[in-house]
Amino acid sequence: MANGARKVAVIGAGNVGATCAFVLAERKVGEVVLLDIYEGFAKGKALDMSQGGRVLNYDGVVSGTKDYSDISGSDVVVVTSGFPRQPGMSREDLIGKNADIINQVGNGIKDHAPDAVIVMVTNPLDLMTYHMQKITGFPEKRVVGQAGILDSARMTHFISEAVGCSNEDVQAMVLGGHGDTMVPLPRYTTVNGIPITQLLDSDEIEAICDRTASGGGEIVKLLERGSAFYAPGSAAAIMAESILFDRKRVLPCSAYLNGEYGMEDIYIGVPVILGKDGVERILELELEPSELESLQGSGAFYKEQLSSILGY
Ligand code: NAI
Ligand code: 2OP
Repeated sequence: MANGARKVAVIGAGNVGATCAFVLAERKVGEVVLLDIYEGFAKGKALDMSQGGRVLNYDGVVSGTKDYSDISGSDVVVVTSGFPRQPGMSREDLIGKNADIINQVGNGIKDHAPDAVIVMVTNPLDLMTYHMQKITGFPEKRVVGQAGILDSARMTHFISEAVGCSNEDVQAMVLGGHGDTMVPLPRYTTVNGIPITQLLDSDEIEAICDRTASGGGEIVKLLERGSAFYAPGSAAAIMAESILFDRKRVLPCSAYLNGEYGMEDIYIGVPVILGKDGVERILELELEPSELESLQGSGAFYKEQLSSILGY
């Protein structure tokens, strides 16, 4: 890490990017740089956050820019630049427009922060993470996508409500792509070690899995413009923190598979150990045939999109 001081850049100063930068500043991770094509947007939010530091008693440096030279020396770059979906849109409807943005951003990162670990957030998440790895040519383990923490947090929230317990005691696991094909795993979901099957009946569990899979759409519909950002921005910040401090957290992330779970050359959500070099290890869960089939089905869906729409 540059001079021992930690530095993180967040590309895109919109809803998710600004939330992520704020969480990182509040958690005192080190220097935070917010970059957006609209310079005033990045600078204004950075100044606001710096002043917020006086209120919340964090003292990190937050700056705003549109200039990629300012991200040099970053240990982690979180990429949130891109269009969010609007009511009636799927994440996949964003592919073309957001792939163009990722081209530009990927080249900026490659030129100015060639040693960084990239945490992708832009949707459609698993496809844009693959695209970013191709644009930068970074080792696959240094490009990783945020989705599983958010999707698992949504499931956690719904379980804690149904059980009537603190969400602090719920451990949920959601794998697969960040979209309709995601794979909530009730068998790997517990309340302080107690399998949820002992606390909820199968209809309740199924309803929770369905609501989790459409959790992003539920918020898009309520907001009427744009998509969720508090939980997504916080989830990206937690990934950045695990990398910056080499915490080796076990987190569900979109990671590059090279044979794991019977899939190859694809980014998809699986549990990983996340440390200073990015994805240090992919953990292979023992899945039932139906669970594995769902996960591989999710991978096949994205593989088809990579080839038919992005030409990979
Ligand atoms: P937003 O519209 O609030 O912010 C996007 C920002 O990107 C804007 O400030 C815009 O000026 C900036 N931008 C656009 N092109 C750029 C470029 N070439 N270089 C630098 N900055 C650029 O959108 P929001 O809500 O922050 O969402 C951002 C992305 O994150 C969307 O694609 C959304 O679908 C995705 N998302 C992903 C989630 C996940 O779990 N992976 C969850 C929530 C959102
Ligand atoms: C979400 O799940 C839109 O991907 C975004 O909220």
